Amino acid sequence: MIQFDEKTNVFKLDTKNLSYVIGLADGAYAGHIYFGKRLESTDLSYLLRIDEPPFVPSANLREKVAFLDSYPMEYAFGGTGDFRESCITVTTAAGQQGLDLTYVSHRIYNGKEALDGLPATWGTDSETLELTLEDIPTGIRVLLSYSIFSDSDAVMRSVKIINGGADAIYIDRVLSACLDMDNEQYEVLSLHGSWARERHMNRTPLGYGSYTMESVRGESSHQDHPFLALVSPGCTQTSGSVYAMHFIYSGNFLAKAQLCQHDTVRMVMGIHPEQFRWKLEPGECFQAPEVVCVYSDEGLGKMTRTFHDLYRNHLIRSKYKYQPRPVLVNSWEAAYFDFDTEKLLKLAKQSAELGIEMLVMDDGWFGHRNSDEGSLGDWYVNEEKLKGGLKYLVDEVNALGMKFGIWLEPEMISPDSDVYRAHPEWALQLKNRTASLCRAQYVLDLSRPEVVDYVYDCVRKTLQAANISYVKWDMNRQLTDIGSTYLPADRQGELSHRHTLAVYELQERMLQEFPDLLLENCSGGGARFDPGMLYYSPQIWCSDNTDAVERLIIQEGTQLIYPLSVIGAHVSDCPNHTVGRVTPFETRGVVALAGTFGYELDPCKISEDDRKKIPGQIADYKKYGALVREGDYYRIASYQENRLYDCYEIVSKDREEAVVFFIQVLHEPNRRSRKIYLQGLDADAVYLYDKKEYLGATLMQAGLILPRMWGDFQAQILEFKKK
Ligand code: GLA
Repeated sequence: MIQFDEKTNVFKLDTKNLSYVIGLADGAYAGHIYFGKRLESTDLSYLLRIDEPPFVPSANLREKVAFLDSYPMEYAFGGTGDFRESCITVTTAAGQQGLDLTYVSHRIYNGKEALDGLPATWGTDSETLELTLEDIPTGIRVLLSYSIFSDSDAVMRSVKIINGGADAIYIDRVLSACLDMDNEQYEVLSLHGSWARERHMNRTPLGYGSYTMESVRGESSHQDHPFLALVSPGCTQTSGSVYAMHFIYSGNFLAKAQLCQHDTVRMVMGIHPEQFRWKLEPGECFQAPEVVCVYSDEGLGKMTRTFHDLYRNHLIRSKYKYQPRPVLVNSWEAAYFDFDTEKLLKLAKQSAELGIEMLVMDDGWFGHRNSDEGSLGDWYVNEEKLKGGLKYLVDEVNALGMKFGIWLEPEMISPDSDVYRAHPEWALQLKNRTASLCRAQYVLDLSRPEVVDYVYDCVRKTLQAANISYVKWDMNRQLTDIGSTYLPADRQGELSHRHTLAVYELQERMLQEFPDLLLENCSGGGARFDPGMLYYSPQIWCSDNTDAVERLIIQEGTQLIYPLSVIGAHVSDCPNHTVGRVTPFETRGVVALAGTFGYELDPCKISEDDRKKIPGQIADYKKYGALVREGDYYRIASYQENRLYDCYEIVSKDREEAVVFFIQVLHEPNRRSRKIYLQGLDADAVYLYDKKEYLGATLMQAGLILPRMWGDFQAQILEFKKK
């Protein structure tokens, strides 16, 4: 419910368990009052501290700077007194910056409007508060949107800027969310990584100054994830408070937590101001992407489950989100660039016999691509490799009872390609400079409408050529040389954001035209694993690192926010191609079960023993798949923390059944059997495990002793069913 109390000038948003409260100091300045466990009282304006120095401007105008620099802002603006991190910078026709945003009006309505051209949460059982602020001298208006869903303890925030003045303006910075709070000795939790080790959890006390997570790579990135949380000291999976922000966007971002002089904390998130400048003509508006704000008073676990449910119910649109995905075999680690029709059909046949349901032809099928040196942009079949063409191959694969999927990297162009030779101006480039290569490729300038049409045409023709059920949409380099031969000088700063918008537009067009397509996004592994992509694809390739042990850390960090149903996870061959580690085939299977599940190997090339295990692994995927996709996730132990073992549990929504995955990474000698404490069960119910009966409360409070395992890298699955 959203209410406005005219007497106290207080806006209050209540979900089932949380409240978000905004006040208006002097009837003008939108200030943050409260975000946390649900409150019943509405008389909360005293929390703005406007009765103490420096007071409000109407009472003490001579200290307006001190007011602006200490007031808990709902949307921080700089240049007129607030020296903390700002959310908005606009340069006017006079070449000046600085705003004084004050309240003009508000609107409370049922539902939630879509964000023009951007992915965002959706759902009918929702309510929205829209606050309009204005900078009176320039006529610049800022619309702050706050939406809630009846079934989620989260607040969705976004910002729209309207140029209500008579001259063009330039937006140099527009962040989407700001949270000003008193310091409670917070720690910051973030996800950091690199190629092949994405989203490792990282936690550190917040000291004076700023803690920043950011990407200026043109993608959400392997390195920093567009997520930031403030957690109370000692916060665990089950206790402590968490304030988390997650950005529904796939390009450059900035996330910052700043501990300021008066012991206040400001947390902000939005599009990174670097390489960003957006020209706004009079009457035009700019829509900034959405930030999801989640609060938990029961530790990280509750935050995780709030994100999981929100994304499953209100972000992912694909009809496949709750459906079993076809178990696939991907040609990448099986053959890299070394394949032809014959080899692929052999791979398909062997795979089909083992119960694998889809063949995905990865990189290497087009142009003259036999390595990563060229051909991106030449999206026509390499007939030398694929004799008989795409349709012949797909028909043959279909005849084996398998679906067919294909790899595309539509945003890219190789210097060694027909399309580049014809259109060198289509690549991103800075004037009078040769653009930097990355994986021997350039990025297409998607601000050019004819490039977007060309790209879409290539995608469409490929998908029309044969019966293609799945697309892996890859993006294998970061954006550099952000210059366009098309945009005028005063719009060059729009290029990076325009690239992201064009990717959204292309995927939207593709999904509208091919509604049955299963789309998996990918970016050199998991560099564009973000909620923006989830709006288009129900799954994202998590990491190029398929080693079972490394995956435990990567998947734990990913599962912190993302439902397991979206995490691309495959069983690959050993020694692992990325780290050289040898782990048992069974363990690789168990680890991949905590995701979409599939294979990244050639079954003809693995041992007979391992090959024989594939049908059993697929049976496990079918058995646990629904629970994994739909259930509640609980983290029981973390290998990243203890460096010995990993354990997570999934409980069905009705708490009728649960499954626990336990992976012993290192076998410690002379150690007694491990005990784990289950979570999320029905305390009063009796559960059957290993043919014995246990009370739910006992399993949660007193724990369970696990069977001992011998050796490193061992895994087991434990099943619990209500009696
Ligand atoms: C990226 C992907 C891989 C594979 C290769 C192909 O690295 O993450 O899975 O598709 O590209 O070049």
